[in-house]
Amino acid sequence: MGIVIRDKVFTIHTKNSTYQLKVDDKGVLLHTYYGARTDETDYSYRIMPADVGFSGNIAVTDDRTYSMDYFPQEYPVLGSGDYRVNCLEMDLGHGVKDCMLFYDSYRTYSGKYSLSGLPALFAGENDNVETLEIVMKEDKEEIYVHLLYGVFFETDIITRAAFIENKSGKEVRLSRVMSLCLDFARGDYDMIHFHGRHANERNMERVPLFHGIFEQRSTRGTSSHQHNPFVILADKNTNEEMGECYGAALLYSGGFHIQTEVDQLEHARLVIGIDDSELDWRLADGDIFTAPEVMLGYSKNGFGSLSHKYHNTVFRHLIRSAWKDRQRPVLVNNWEATYFNFNGEKLLEIAKQGAELGLDMLVLDDGWFGKRDDDYSGLGDWNVNEEKLGCSLKELVDNVNNMGLSFGIWVEPEMISEDSDLYRAHPDWALAVPGREPVRGRSQLVLDMTRDDVISYIEGRLFALLDSANIQYIKWDMNRSLAAAYSAGLERERQGEVRHRFVLGLYRVLEDLHTRYPDLLIEGCSGGGGRFDMGMLYYTPQIWCSDNTDAIERLRIQYGTSFAYPMSSVSAHVSVCPNHQNGRTTPFKTRGICAMQGTFGFELDLSRMSDEDKMLAREQVKTFKKHYRLFQFGDYYRITSPFDNPDFTAWEYADKNGREAYLAVVFTDVHGNPLPKLVRFQGLIPEAVYKIVQDGNAVEPRTGAALMNGGLLLPIPEKNYDSTAFYISVEE
Ligand code: GLA
Repeated sequence: MGIVIRDKVFTIHTKNSTYQLKVDDKGVLLHTYYGARTDETDYSYRIMPADVGFSGNIAVTDDRTYSMDYFPQEYPVLGSGDYRVNCLEMDLGHGVKDCMLFYDSYRTYSGKYSLSGLPALFAGENDNVETLEIVMKEDKEEIYVHLLYGVFFETDIITRAAFIENKSGKEVRLSRVMSLCLDFARGDYDMIHFHGRHANERNMERVPLFHGIFEQRSTRGTSSHQHNPFVILADKNTNEEMGECYGAALLYSGGFHIQTEVDQLEHARLVIGIDDSELDWRLADGDIFTAPEVMLGYSKNGFGSLSHKYHNTVFRHLIRSAWKDRQRPVLVNNWEATYFNFNGEKLLEIAKQGAELGLDMLVLDDGWFGKRDDDYSGLGDWNVNEEKLGCSLKELVDNVNNMGLSFGIWVEPEMISEDSDLYRAHPDWALAVPGREPVRGRSQLVLDMTRDDVISYIEGRLFALLDSANIQYIKWDMNRSLAAAYSAGLERERQGEVRHRFVLGLYRVLEDLHTRYPDLLIEGCSGGGGRFDMGMLYYTPQIWCSDNTDAIERLRIQYGTSFAYPMSSVSAHVSVCPNHQNGRTTPFKTRGICAMQGTFGFELDLSRMSDEDKMLAREQVKTFKKHYRLFQFGDYYRITSPFDNPDFTAWEYADKNGREAYLAVVFTDVHGNPLPKLVRFQGLIPEAVYKIVQDGNAVEPRTGAALMNGGLLLPIPEKNYDSTAFYISVEE
């Protein structure tokens, strides 16, 4: 039983966690507990009533110890005398933001709620998933706030979302609608977040919370390279294998806002939702505004176990693609091989070599359409440049198929170049303030995805493309941030809605694609990992993790990404050396091992590889395919951190029943007179004896206990960036 309700105390259990909220005798919705699995005690006894001073008291009582300013709440609002960061800012027509919510009703049902137009976790037919919906009503107006809780018992995840329903008979203005508030009874946590920049995404940073507000935010219209909509709050001593931690991931691909505040009573509050920097939403009578979903997770066994909860939930309840359980294609992408400089013949040469290496797919990247020989023109004109290809797209695809490879293609549908037929015909389809110079990014403008005519155009072009040839995959790119995003399709008063409507438009197209082409594999991309979030994973089961293909820098990028996102969602390719982003040279073997941490593929001119590299590539493809299920469905362990361990980075995949595992090590520094280094496995059966194959050679078998507690001695690297990999399996 996931949800237990007694005297307006709502206790939500998952297998290993408990969450509790309570409606008190005044009708206020308090948050009373979230943490390790416990009983149904009314945990509101932990709230100490006090007259804190300068903390407002709501009119339902003259008790000065009763204040919203320090009570832990589920959905705090501005105007209630709570001076901390809040969830809702609403102008009811007085010109000030003033509202107060009281409990109205609740309902529960088995299965999972969905959110119209937004991604949300779903339940399979026999899954143990329940929904709790609590309805709050504005004190004086017929405005209802529905708080939704999805309880994923088996995978230990609780989702939250909210929607505002206006039945007041008038329009109200929303300037902030967050998805959740989580109040803690303590404030001395560490915050772990993932920051970065283009080609250097998701660096992990761990910092202590402090008095005041700490925030991660994207105002870019995308979730962004700079911050990721996933954070962890952890005890000071929490590490990969032990300690308490809480995770929160927003299922949204636009700008977002995460705030953590330690207040005057040393309590922490976490608030998450869409970016409110420019939000001004006019909610008409009868309308609804929905705040996207958040996945909450709790673990008392460290970050490793928290990540497993997220990974398992993403597999079972977020990814809908038919490719979820299928073996993803090992592909070659021509971007770093040719950039814009290719023709049909060159592509076929790469494909031919790919077939010889055992690859599954050729992906044709940017430059195949319109006038597009550089990145200054052509976006929006999604018609094939047959002159450049030397044939029709269908002929090219048929030829590739005849070589035994399937075919994928790059698109960037949300964009428009000023030098394009589309822009010449529809200048008002670009987001830009009339009469002012637009802000350009990569010399391009952003299409107005809030407009129906733009959406129909994009869908028309995409459908025509996909129907024109046997295309099995698209790489959906998005190569700039939004700025001064004015929509010519909306009146002045509604410009504060553009950014959210833009994301809803994007989701609409992705949903339509999913419905019309259920077998299409879509890879997300935004200049690499600029839109790597749970929202995109609902539509695109894999995302190009970074435009940085250097194996060593990828160790950090992929490490940070793995905290929330399963490695099967992380697209990673072997590229040439010296590397195009940083000039570094790494062994081919190491590049393969790093790319196998994710979906695995190649992004180089295969026809120019040395015979030795070809041999290694062939072996890598074989290894990846042989252990594919382990890589995709095994439990992923971060064995060492590239941020903490300067000498080597190690990670492991262990089969869920612990009978086999793959552990990879990349040496990131070498020393004269080197020190002995050990690496310890996780997730094995202590008493089982494992055969060990290191880089293809059998070495002495060991018990699971020995491998997990004693570890294995690592070889001494001959040179920097060497690597080694162990495949172990229980001896039959
Ligand atoms: C983005 C992508 C790259 C490539 C280029 C093409 O930067 O991240 O992988 O597709 O666009 O222009």
